Amino acid sequence: MIAQKIQRLLATKATLVYLISEEEERVERLVAAASEKALGNSLPVFTWSCLKGLMRGKDVTETITDPVRALEFFLHTKDAGPLIFKDLHLFLENNPLLIRQLKECARHLRGKAKTIFFVCPYLALPTDLYSIFRIEDVPLPQHEELQRLLYACIEAHSKADALKKSLTNELREKMALAAQGFTSNEAIEAFRGALVNQVAVSAKTVDRVLAEKEALVRRSGVLEFVHADAGAWEIGGLVNLKKWLEERTRAFSPEAAKWGLTPPKGILVMGVSGCGKSLVVKAIAAHWRLPLLRLDMGRLYDGLAGLPEEVMRKAIKTSEAMAPCVLWIDEIEAGIANQQQKAAGGSESRVLAQFLTWMQEKTAAVFVGATANEVEVLPPEILRKGRFDELFFVGLPDKEERKQILTIHMKKRNVDPSKFDMDYLAESTQGFNGAEIEQGVISGVYESMSSNADLSEHTLANALRNIIPLSQTMRERIEKIENWARDRAMKASLHAFDRAN
Ligand SMILES: Nc1ncnc2c1ncn2[C@@H]1O[C@H](COP(=O)(O)OP(=O)(O)OP(=O)(O)O)[C@@H](O)[C@H]1O
Ligand SMILES: [Mg+2]
Repeated sequence: MIAQKIQRLLATKATLVYLISEEEERVERLVAAASEKALGNSLPVFTWSCLKGLMRGKDVTETITDPVRALEFFLHTKDAGPLIFKDLHLFLENNPLLIRQLKECARHLRGKAKTIFFVCPYLALPTDLYSIFRIEDVPLPQHEELQRLLYACIEAHSKADALKKSLTNELREKMALAAQGFTSNEAIEAFRGALVNQVAVSAKTVDRVLAEKEALVRRSGVLEFVHADAGAWEIGGLVNLKKWLEERTRAFSPEAAKWGLTPPKGILVMGVSGCGKSLVVKAIAAHWRLPLLRLDMGRLYDGLAGLPEEVMRKAIKTSEAMAPCVLWIDEIEAGIANQQQKAAGGSESRVLAQFLTWMQEKTAAVFVGATANEVEVLPPEILRKGRFDELFFVGLPDKEERKQILTIHMKKRNVDPSKFDMDYLAESTQGFNGAEIEQGVISGVYESMSSNADLSEHTLANALRNIIPLSQTMRERIEKIENWARDRAMKASLHAFDRAN
């Protein structure tokens, strides 16, 4: 796709093109290949860097390390062909001469086959230059390109013939899929690493590439690969929410596309603390068998991983490259609360706007599972239709739900619920959230372990009685959250608002 786009830009004699990419070498390869196709020009393309000056292929044309003079030279050279200009973003600040020169280039290169491609890792143009640039985001290598890279790695391997023999179509597909989200250099490194000392490609080779992917996600700074336990829905209650998700189990399959369905965008789960918001998102990934990536909003805004806009862009790009996947944004309001403390127009509001635009326009199969506690700070634009498919409110569990939650957590600790009066236990935990019920079961089990006896109903009831539920100390706060959600969200449980008992 990007190869064709560059080809079209060359064929239509675009003047200034700003390519957002960290992959300089790959962009050079893409532009060279496109130049050959679009212009029938097999001469090496021009490149400029402040270290080497202007070069054509490996030959130095002019050692002009000053960007303004280099552009002046290129403007007047009689040789046609594109120029790849590196690091423009580092020279623009307080540089009126360069900004002027760019405007001159836009004017004088019009209609000439001398397109200039500026390769920068992020967008950093002064706004008055926006109109003279074509800005393109270079996506990470896609399936076909990855398969080609894999083939090149195998060709260069000392056991190339044996490896090729073992590479079935299915394994080739799986290897490429495993490398999605890598830059081309990272993919090459991962393939090489996975194939070292090997004489055959196997499922293990795929696993080695996948292991590299986890490291890559960690390197993104704010994304984390979460291993969700596979298995059934170990969630008590929340019937409406589970039904909604159940209906979409095959949302990311080719079958859904046949029905004319586009993949769902995501859900926002909000509500009372400890009632299973985070649990739901983890369960979605496990149930749908999709990788789960967690975006740390706190880290995104603290600036340690880089400029927030840039980090968000990278996180989006990585998650799209991993598609289909679930992107978990826990406590989405963390950044928004910050935003209100700081002056409006800061990077926080830009990051939120960037995220919402992406949500609105997203076509990639990235299902966003966002959670929020401080619902009141959520701005209306987050809640507007078109961003999330559905807003769910998770409140305190009712008696039936508490029974289910108790059952889940007792079974997890090898306690047989059929030996207990579950109605009584559910009744006695009124006002408890799921986390508190779990905590009660755990302390009961600990107590019975220390006395070396099976857990008795008496011990469990006592352990539960010792817990002071949050709802007792935070009644007003919980009521406020419920009131807020009443008109805005769908109840995750079957029972209506205010009906938990
Ligand atoms: N409906 C439920 N069914 C089973 N277990 C539950 C349920 N709700 C909560 N739990 C238990 O409580 C734990 C904590 O829940 P979770 O972290 O999902 O709550 P949360 O709503 O995200 O809370 P917070 O707002 O504090 O982040 C879960 O890991 C799970 O063990
Ligand atoms: Mg949580």
